[in-house]
Amino acid sequence: MIDWHSHVLSGMDDGSKSVAESVQLLKELRAQGVDTVIATPHYYADDESVESFLQRREESYQSLCAQVEDLSKISGNGDLPKIVLGTEVCYYPAIRRLERLLDLRIGQSDLLLLEMPSRKWSEYTLREIEEISEIRGVTLILAHIERSFPFQSPKTLERLYESRILMQSNAGFFTALGTRSKALRLLRDGKVHLIGSDCHNTTSRPPRMEKAFHVISKKFGEHFITQMNEFGQTLLVKE
Ligand SMILES: [Fe+2]
Repeated sequence: MIDWHSHVLSGMDDGSKSVAESVQLLKELRAQGVDTVIATPHYYADDESVESFLQRREESYQSLCAQVEDLSKISGNGDLPKIVLGTEVCYYPAIRRLERLLDLRIGQSDLLLLEMPSRKWSEYTLREIEEISEIRGVTLILAHIERSFPFQSPKTLERLYESRILMQSNAGFFTALGTRSKALRLLRDGKVHLIGSDCHNTTSRPPRMEKAFHVISKKFGEHFITQMNEFGQTLLVKE
């Protein structure tokens, strides 16, 4: 399975604090049935240039790779998930004009993960999302929609779905008793397409993918999980 949203790279944001913690998170994810992790550190255009972010991300990734190599030599156990580098891009007005926006896509794919504000979006914002989704070579994914969708009108949601934007939800949306039914309904109706752990650490925000997969397969059967995985792989294969 693919984890579409994670903060497993150390020193990038409020996620993993060290390479050791990153390795622990990856081990947990692998044990939970995840074989591909999309690493999506936060990007805030106010704080730094895309160039600087990409350089920091590469350095973080390389230090993790170096450590993992050592670990597999020691334990003879190299069974960690594959990491694909991505970004959780924080939306701001006029983001479509950001230079090198497309360099923030996931791996070599055309997928761009966008974090939207948790408030009612203006017509300007909505139009801008639609415009980004229409850029050639971009398939837009909105991050953890359960946070922002409650603020939008049914009409707005209809527009977004018509724009063929992909919707990502966090595992916690499926595991929490208060939201589980809604999450499963959205998944069944094709309103949620991708699931991510959004894990930040091993303590307060650990990965809960296994439980989410369990909830989903119990409701819709194992084949549903297989289909989700196949769909996800086709998105990444565009690499
Ligand atoms: Fe996140």
